[in-house]
Amino acid sequence: MTLRIAVLASGRGSNLGALIEAERSRHVPIEIVLVASDKTHAQALRRAEEAGIATLALDPCGYPDRAGFDADLFARIADQAPDLMVLAGFMRILDPAVLAPWVGRAINIHPSLLPKYRGLRTHERAIAAGDTLHGASVHFVTPELDGGPVIAQVEIPLETGDTPATLAARLLPLEHQLLIECVRFFAAGRVALRGDSVVCDGRPLAAPLRLNSVGELGAPA
Ligand code: GRF
Repeated sequence: MTLRIAVLASGRGSNLGALIEAERSRHVPIEIVLVASDKTHAQALRRAEEAGIATLALDPCGYPDRAGFDADLFARIADQAPDLMVLAGFMRILDPAVLAPWVGRAINIHPSLLPKYRGLRTHERAIAAGDTLHGASVHFVTPELDGGPVIAQVEIPLETGDTPATLAARLLPLEHQLLIECVRFFAAGRVALRGDSVVCDGRPLAAPLRLNSVGELGAPA
């Protein structure tokens, strides 16, 4: 079965690029049916157009409040009947009531080892804290910002002299792999949200899956 995906992105769209490549190469049985953004000039929209994918740009300024914007956005996404919504650099907090019917069918990629560093400037905060490990997480989206159950993570060591920019650059290709592998598991029906728990192959995960050095998801060592 081909998994129909809607991608929400506000910026550069490199994670979207990884998804487009995964679809094109048939590495993962997906069809990106829509790329939506709250930013008309998002590079992600241009990437989608170049790949021949339908796009939707909605400006939040045209709505009286957050709930109105989110309701319209999600209604238009629902028109495309996606099986999964992927938030990839979508820089907005979502209205809980609008999100509710999508819980379990929406995932987000976040550049930290959640629950550490929800929100912004994650690389800077990891360096400032003197962490030895940093990474990225893919989690189910819930109303709590970057707070939903974590499906899988990838770890990288911090290096002497790392800056937020060097750390981000080293992590980004691994983020892409992590997202693609999570989508692959989702497409194969291997991961799901049950209550507050992530279930993998029918069993609740005691800890997030980990992307290993050969790019496969498995239990943490
Ligand atoms: C990524 O670092 C992602 O983890 C975070 O926002 C960034 C989006 O990058 N949520 P891109 O737009 O996919 O290049």
